[in-house]
Amino acid sequence: MQWTGLNELREKYLSFFESKGHLRLDSFPLVPKNDNSLLLINSGMAPMKKWFLGQEEPPCHRVTTCQKCIRTPDIERVGITARHGTYFEMLGNFSFQDYFKKEATAWAWEFLTKVLEIPAELLYISVYEDDDEAWDIWTKDIGIAEDHMVRFGKEDNFWEHGSGPCGPCSEIYFDRGPEHGCGKPGCKVGCDCDRYMEVWNLVFSQFDSDGKGNYTRLERPNIDTGMGLERLACVMQGVGNLFEVDTVRAILNHVEKISGKTYGEDAKTDISIRVITDHIRSTTFMVSDGIMPSNEGRGYVLRRLLRRAARHGRMLGITRPFLTELV
Ligand code: GLY
Repeated sequence: MQWTGLNELREKYLSFFESKGHLRLDSFPLVPKNDNSLLLINSGMAPMKKWFLGQEEPPCHRVTTCQKCIRTPDIERVGITARHGTYFEMLGNFSFQDYFKKEATAWAWEFLTKVLEIPAELLYISVYEDDDEAWDIWTKDIGIAEDHMVRFGKEDNFWEHGSGPCGPCSEIYFDRGPEHGCGKPGCKVGCDCDRYMEVWNLVFSQFDSDGKGNYTRLERPNIDTGMGLERLACVMQGVGNLFEVDTVRAILNHVEKISGKTYGEDAKTDISIRVITDHIRSTTFMVSDGIMPSNEGRGYVLRRLLRRAARHGRMLGITRPFLTELV
């Protein structure tokens, strides 16, 4: 596998799925349309719920996108750790009542091992505990050894966010090596440490959830996959976290330049540099999608992010307005 830039990875993914008959669509805006269950788009599938449910006809029954996403439940952790961020891009291939598990797994494997040339022995697969069909596809059709397979319960391998289409999933993990692990005897896929990194989630979307625990089986199932572009870039660039990925590091370098501080020299300064680097990404895209700071809803999320970024600028000793220089 070869070092690959984030922008090149995005293009490789989208053109691979175009070659498999998918229509490439632009990212949808961050503001959900006709969906009160979400403040901000948080996954590739979120803007396509009606296509999954068969309530609207999609432009094509196979679609691929790179979707801008915001997730803020961990906002307080951003900066403190290098793993958390509020903004990311989600690569996805989607089937609306078209192909299902066999094709989705085969193409995911082909993309990772043939196009990106990730060594197969570094990849591990999880399936939902009862999903023998997915287990058999991975082990018999694709040929994954059973010691590279695990079964997980609903908490890990059932995907849903808010109400709408959801289902059991199968995840692909990348082994970053024992030097990134906790070293505990039971350390394996699913361990909280940094060794096994989840890169791709294949959702076998076959239920409609009302968000209150009631699931209706869909007449014809769908495929919804999500692979964080920055995570994939970490794998392909051999770096440990989002802030070291080429395009994000370029923003971080700019924060260093404006503040006159050097990343990696002081733990407290690093927190502030990471907060600003992350938050300028989310706020820039929120504002460009028409969100304005306010006291409620998504406007409040924006206001909070902007205030945190500005405050951390002060903590770095920057006394002038500086966020516009990073946009
Ligand atoms: N929709 C699948 C994922 O975001 O992981």
